[in-house]
Amino acid sequence: MVALPETANGTVTDRAGPQPGERGLRARWRRARFMAPADIGLFLRSAKTDGAIGRWRGEVGQRAAFENAYGTFGDPWASGSDRYRYQGWKYDRVVDCLPPGRRFSRALDLGCGLGLLSTRLAARADAVVGMDIAQAAVDRAAARAAAHAHVSFRQGDVLDLPRDLDGQFDLVVIADTLYYLPPPITPALLKGVAARVADLLAPGGVCLLANHYFFAADPESRLSRRIHEAFAWSPRFHLVRESRRPFYLVSLLDHQP
Ligand SMILES: C[S@@+](CC[C@H](N)C(=O)[O-])C[C@H]1O[C@@H](n2cnc3c(N)ncnc32)[C@H](O)[C@@H]1O
Repeated sequence: MVALPETANGTVTDRAGPQPGERGLRARWRRARFMAPADIGLFLRSAKTDGAIGRWRGEVGQRAAFENAYGTFGDPWASGSDRYRYQGWKYDRVVDCLPPGRRFSRALDLGCGLGLLSTRLAARADAVVGMDIAQAAVDRAAARAAAHAHVSFRQGDVLDLPRDLDGQFDLVVIADTLYYLPPPITPALLKGVAARVADLLAPGGVCLLANHYFFAADPESRLSRRIHEAFAWSPRFHLVRESRRPFYLVSLLDHQP
């Protein structure tokens, strides 16, 4: 395994560029393989969904906007579509960011959508719970994951997490969900979410955050960066590793008791 640069506080930062010991051409080829030309359609489709959610949110509220998205589009971000290679590749790479060799007792996938990531987590955890604000997503995720006896789903809101979940997990994963919180997404709101997510973790637990990231000047990527900073700067977390790849950012954070 290639050694990654480590900062004074022990955080490992892993960028998309060639890693030490990796030849330029080989590295470029490995990075290029994750996408096919058809994947451009994925980004167009996601933009259409996001535009509709933005409109519905103003008309019918946050939860109903996501229920509408699942009701109208079925798979609003094409997360389970065979047509696009990128999503599956990304889910696999996100799971690869978990501490190598560690097995988890109980994992929570917050904002699980159709449960594509939840079922991948099933290989690393004795039990996985997926939670989403949209009951329509939860129902479909449960149907898709029927063969995985230790994966279950429930409806719930990141902004109103039940207290009976506190301390129940040694892994919380949140992928591409927090930038959908109702605007304005202020630093205070994000700090509150980070603290509440920390409550869910048992001692020794970890949080894995993943959010889309294109480039530093892009407003949506800046929001992703603010989300990750709110967690990294929380006294309840220590940032262990940050990985940036096309087109996402992943942070692995240790829970601080
Ligand atoms: C882009 S999808 C990501 C789904 C999944 N994490 C994945 O990577 O495939 C965003 C999901 O966040 C859910 N969501 C939005 N706001 C939420 C909230 N406040 N609490 C829980 N889930 C929420 C949506 O219903 C949607 O399923």
